[in-house]
Amino acid sequence: MQVGIDQIGFYTPNKYVDMIDLAHARNEDPNKFLIGIGQQKMSVADQTQDAVSMGINATLRYLDHIERKNVGLLIVGTESGVDQSKSASLFIKTALNLPLNVRTFEVKEACFGMTAGIMIARDYVRLHPNHSAIVIGADIARYGINTGGEVTQGAGSISVLVKADPRIMTLSAGHSAYSADINDFWRPNDSAVALVDGKYSKDVYLDFFRHTFADYQKQTGLKASDFTALLYHLPFVKMGFKANQLAIEKRDDETKKRLADNFAASAYYSKQIGNIYTASLYLSFLSLLENAQLPANAKVGLFSYGSGAMAEFYSGQICEDYGKALNQTADQEMIARRQKLTISEYEQIFNQALKVPQDGLKLASDEKSGTWYFAGTENHVRQYRQK
Ligand code: CAA
Repeated sequence: MQVGIDQIGFYTPNKYVDMIDLAHARNEDPNKFLIGIGQQKMSVADQTQDAVSMGINATLRYLDHIERKNVGLLIVGTESGVDQSKSASLFIKTALNLPLNVRTFEVKEACFGMTAGIMIARDYVRLHPNHSAIVIGADIARYGINTGGEVTQGAGSISVLVKADPRIMTLSAGHSAYSADINDFWRPNDSAVALVDGKYSKDVYLDFFRHTFADYQKQTGLKASDFTALLYHLPFVKMGFKANQLAIEKRDDETKKRLADNFAASAYYSKQIGNIYTASLYLSFLSLLENAQLPANAKVGLFSYGSGAMAEFYSGQICEDYGKALNQTADQEMIARRQKLTISEYEQIFNQALKVPQDGLKLASDEKSGTWYFAGTENHVRQYRQK
């Protein structure tokens, strides 16, 4: 029996900042942001979108195509948690009307959270082949106005269904994990924005890629040339580009070209959305599926990195008719529908969203009908509504 990804859904909020505008406002050369960092736009979440609402909206993209009663597991990976105790997944489970006997919880290890969920789901479905698992990554990357990390912000969610005999990608057995207790990026309980040692974080990311990719090749006997594409967690596109350069150095020209072309296809959506932390690697996956021509049985390697730090490399094989399970036009419309913000509008929305909502606050959404949003609190309980 093969287990893997059968459905994939995507959501990003309806507002963005253009990197050229941001560069001008911060007195930077636009080419630093466009070429040096590799980003063109970043999605901005206002007060009404958070990890819960974005996770619901991503899953709704495929929910009508699945058997809800077979879902036995729902995991949400996020580092933008909305409660110190209650799992984001419980709010999501209610909105999605999933069965009461679903096992559900939230996982946290920076941007690694969704990969942790997928690995748990893979092994769960192997033991329970009649059940499926929904795994969601949903995050808002916030570093702060006028900080070095500002250009690497973003917001969005990816949701996948893991089941037996999947339609998109089978997950291969095995993985290579690597971890160390370090301080490259973190968010203390009293801070709404991340703290980061930017240059150090870039070095650690590459170091962890070297370790996990080398170990995976040793374990499996696979080489870089055996992969159709290598996918990366993309905190910003240049970061993954650097890792890909390491993977293809000393390889034959055909491998170099294939992995470079497919990297560009995988980075296409991230360039326009920015960092979505836990879901970033899976946004790269979606972008590859929708922007590259993949042969049947294409072998794809995935590098997941969560600061703190935990990394894992694993792989999968693309299914023959994967294109039929995608919704490329709707995904492109999701990105194209966003309204451009001026820098002062962005700063106002950003600062507003940082505030803890006063109890009793009622919020309205400017999203299209059918979108879920955070509607404020009642007796300190977060309220979610569908527009
Ligand atoms: N034209 C073209 N390129 C230019 C340029 C110009 N005019 N000016 C500068 N550049 C290039 C620089 O040469 C540099 O390229 P290299 O990396 O290839 O050397 C690049 O632009 C960036 O320049 P700086 O390093 O000087 O930029 P910075 O000091 O402003 O910081 C950053 C960049 C460290 C990434 C910062 O944005 C940051 O801290 N971001 C958040 C942390 C982060 O994303 N870390 C990634 C690893 S951690 C992780 O993956 C987990 C996670 O999700 C956060």
